[in-house]
Amino acid sequence: MTGIGLLGFGTVGQGIYRILDERKEALTASPGGACQVKLILVQDISKKRDTEVPEGLLTMNPEDILADESIRIVVEVTGDREFSYDFFLKAFEKGKHVVTANKAVVSRYYEELSRKAEEHHVYFLYEASVAAGVPVIKALKDQIRLSSVNQVSGILNGTCNFILTKMSEENLGYEEALQEAQHLGYAESDPTADVAGTDTLRKLRILSTLAFGGSVLEKDILCEGISSITALDVRLLKSLGRKVKLLGEAKVEHGDFTAWVYPRAVPDKSSFYRVEGVDNSIQLDSSNGGNLSFQGPGAGMRTTASGVLTDVLDCILHTQRKESPLGKKRLQNRNELLEGTFYVRIGRGGEAESFPKEYVAKMLHDQEGVTCFLTEKMNLKKLRSLVEMQGDESFVIIAMA
Ligand SMILES: NC(=O)c1ccc[n+]([C@@H]2O[C@H](COP(=O)([O-])OP(=O)(O)OC[C@H]3O[C@@H](n4cnc5c(N)ncnc54)[C@H](OP(=O)(O)O)[C@@H]3O)[C@@H](O)[C@H]2O)c1
Repeated sequence: MTGIGLLGFGTVGQGIYRILDERKEALTASPGGACQVKLILVQDISKKRDTEVPEGLLTMNPEDILADESIRIVVEVTGDREFSYDFFLKAFEKGKHVVTANKAVVSRYYEELSRKAEEHHVYFLYEASVAAGVPVIKALKDQIRLSSVNQVSGILNGTCNFILTKMSEENLGYEEALQEAQHLGYAESDPTADVAGTDTLRKLRILSTLAFGGSVLEKDILCEGISSITALDVRLLKSLGRKVKLLGEAKVEHGDFTAWVYPRAVPDKSSFYRVEGVDNSIQLDSSNGGNLSFQGPGAGMRTTASGVLTDVLDCILHTQRKESPLGKKRLQNRNELLEGTFYVRIGRGGEAESFPKEYVAKMLHDQEGVTCFLTEKMNLKKLRSLVEMQGDESFVIIAMA
């Protein structure tokens, strides 16, 4: 019987508890045997919860879990970055394996936590931190042993994809689509980390650092969210056969890399075009494996819990490695070289007339002080500085992917 200490008993924590309970017999009969949640850490023990647990299982004291020698695996689903970081270091010292779904803590402390786990000969696994139950991290760890993976790209945030899908399919405005996402429980009451692109950025940081064998830090990723996109932008791009998606993309070549999270207008032939609702989709360009795609729900109680539990099984069955999978290459950031063609909207308060005409490839809309156009192929940094000079703070730039 493997003892588990569960940190957090919200959406994902309860999903984990329920699956372990429902699958008790199947797990007991399978290699590795049964596992049992020994203690659950919460913030407020008196809170009413949808999942009943035996008395004495809940605690508000993290030390209880650290001190319990029957707990071999700590499963963290609190979402609290700094608490988790401190706790993981203590858990490693106690010889406990750590499994987490928390992209914030993995992204911020990826190299250090991977190294510390290796030093203490314990597992540090985080499959559900990227795309919930979609098994991309494990596949990537295998690919990098056999191939060079020089490009990772993906729709990595279900909330943004749901909002953009609603705007495209039902011609909703951004606020309306966001409210619907909140109503259905897909977006949190404070959706900033999702819609500003931060959540996508963290997942891209994890994927690209693993893929490229060298650190791609949060600060190395250019990031633009979706909150300035309007129904007009979506409609104009739809008339060109495009759908707007928030993509994270990182590429490396001869040690130079670019990494950006940006709204992209994808054409029908792109595999991202048909990724709808809360689904996530990731593509890896592997030198031997080819162009690999992974797709599935990027959020939800059971799908995320299932992703977490595949890591728990790996700890029990020893089917992953305790050595850090991260490489030590020194990579050079070249985001200043990002270029392409772009859709631009300069709104009221701006002075689109002064935008240099030689960069405008096609005018799409010019009414009531709102100007929308496609640019010639150009450097993104230069475009941003030209648009910022127009004086409209709510401008939009969408890359024509
Ligand atoms: N929800 C998803 O679909 C999804 C998908 C992928 C990844 N994730 C990741 O999974 C993690 C959990 O998400 P969630 O949706 O389950 O969150 P949630 O519903 O807000 O639950 C968080 C739980 O953690 C507890 N908690 C928070 N901070 C704590 C602290 N400092 N000490 C002790 N307990 C603490 C809370 O206790 P109380 O109940 O007492 O307040 C609550 O039980 C996050 O890192 C999230 O990014 C979630």
